[in-house]
Amino acid sequence: MTRSSILALALVLPILSACGESAENQLARGEQLYQICKGCHDMRENKSGPYHCWLVGRPAATAVGYSYSQVVKDSGLTWDEKTLDAFLKAPLSFLPGTKMGFAGYHLEGERTALIAYLKKTTSDPQSCEGIPRP
Ligand code: HEC
Repeated sequence: MTRSSILALALVLPILSACGESAENQLARGEQLYQICKGCHDMRENKSGPYHCWLVGRPAATAVGYSYSQVVKDSGLTWDEKTLDAFLKAPLSFLPGTKMGFAGYHLEGERTALIAYLKKTTSDPQSCEGIPRP
C-alpha cells in the first residue's frame, strides 16, 4: 500500500464509521422516544390506541378492530414520512378532534429519529407476522 492510499484510508474510515454510528444512534434515540407511545400503543395489539404493525405505508384508520374517531376515519391520509411528521409534531392541530392525547414532538430531530425507528420496527416481518397488512 502506498503512503497516499494509507493516508486516504486514514481520512475516509472515521467518516464512514461516523455515518454508521449516527444511523444506529438515530434508531436508539427513536426507540427512547417511542417509550411514551407505548403507554397507548403496542406493535400487535390494540390498547387505548391502535396497533402499529405495518404503520408506515398504512392508510389511516385501518387497524383491525380499533374504533377510531371520525376525523381520523375521514382524513384520507396514508401514513408515510411526511404525514407522520405533520401528525406527530402536533396531533391535535393536525387532526382536530383526534382522541390521541399526545401533545407532540416539537423538535424536527426527534421526529426524524422516531420515524426512522417506526419505519424499521413497524415493518419487521417477524414481529408483525400474522398481522393483516392493509
Ligand atoms: C395518550 C395515549 C397516546 C399516546 C401517548 C400516543 N398515542 Fe397515538 N393514538 C392514540 C389514540 C387514542 C389514537 C386513535 C386516534 C383517533 O382515532 O382519533 C392514536 C392514533 C395514532 C396514529 C394513527 C394510526 C392509524 O391507524 O391511523 C398514529 C400514527 C399514532 N397514534 C402514532 C403515535 C406515536 C408514534 C406516538 C408516540 C409519539 C403516539 N401515537 C402516542 C393514543 C396515543
